Amino acid sequence: MRVAMYSSKPYDETSFAAADPAGRHDVLYLEERLRPTTAPLASGTRAVCAFVNDVVDAETLDVLASVGVRHVALRCAGFNNVDVAAAAGLGIDVVRVPAYSPNAVAEHTIALVLALNRRLHRAYARVRDGNFSLDGLVGFDLAGKTVGVIGTGRIGALVARLMWHFRCDVIAHDVYENPKVTELGMRYVSLDEIWERSDIVSLNCPLTAETYHLVSHDVVARLKPGVMLVNTGRGALVDTVAVIEGLKSGRIGSVALDVYEEEAPLFFEDRSSEVLTDDVFARLLTFPNVLVTAHQAFLTNEALAAIAETTLANLDDLEDGRACANAVVPDVR
Ligand code: NAI
Repeated sequence: MRVAMYSSKPYDETSFAAADPAGRHDVLYLEERLRPTTAPLASGTRAVCAFVNDVVDAETLDVLASVGVRHVALRCAGFNNVDVAAAAGLGIDVVRVPAYSPNAVAEHTIALVLALNRRLHRAYARVRDGNFSLDGLVGFDLAGKTVGVIGTGRIGALVARLMWHFRCDVIAHDVYENPKVTELGMRYVSLDEIWERSDIVSLNCPLTAETYHLVSHDVVARLKPGVMLVNTGRGALVDTVAVIEGLKSGRIGSVALDVYEEEAPLFFEDRSSEVLTDDVFARLLTFPNVLVTAHQAFLTNEALAAIAETTLANLDDLEDGRACANAVVPDVR
């Protein structure tokens, strides 16, 4: 099948070529982000392959349908950027990659905790600049600290387990209890207890109406003083302005983010020669105790290979008219 892959990067090309050596699908790699104005580029293809910040709204879908596109294959798990009902109305199938490597995201979460705690982001730059002073680099022992994990699905359960191996006291909160968490003796507690007791809070739940701005002004005021906040879930789980206030007051000790609520216009591109117009993000970057990565937690060879393999298998199903196990249907939301 001919497929237009939007927001494509060199690593996508490498992983898709490796997963399809026989070239059963003819992929047109496009650097452009999918949006109404770029949708006509898919003309002559049966499917588009989209990523997290592509805009797959009703307007885009209308254009895609008008140029003959029948399928949207997401090469990610989340589908909050897709108007699933509009796609169904147009008879366009939507498929996704529900899980590719929970290890990749969990391990990046731990990397952020370790780097931020021991100020490796500052130490690295200092040493390269010939500055061997240790002032401002004091961290804390992880052993014995209380870690609160919110959302203990595939990724959160691994984060909990890895922090447990650092001999932390791990407490968890979820709408469902995961036996992989309780079997190690970790306890599920209320959100209040997470906020009040945790030295480190890790956000690993999806973005939904209930979890939007889970970390609000009110919550920041109740956090344990000096807490480390880590978000590798979705940007809008935290109210960034509230977090900035918490950093300024000292209530929040440090923050690590792999996601940001207004990341779409920024992330995945080299903008180092441009003026940064997002004042909230610019303020965030001024803090010495803030570490931001640009939605890279998923980025391992294993995860890219799994994304390519599942996406190609989804396209096989669509091409052959088989029911696809990874179909996104309106009532899944
Ligand atoms: P999952 O579906 O396995 O687990 C999510 C867990 O969150 C479930 O146990 C669910 O019950 C829980 N949950 C749902 N609503 C909740 C609420 N209101 N309060 C507490 N818990 C709640 O998903 P998985 O694979 O663990 O991924 C988690 C999130 O990580 C994704 O939704 C996605 O936003 C994010 N993610 C980030 C990536 C990155 O590169 N930074 C890559 C992949 C996923």
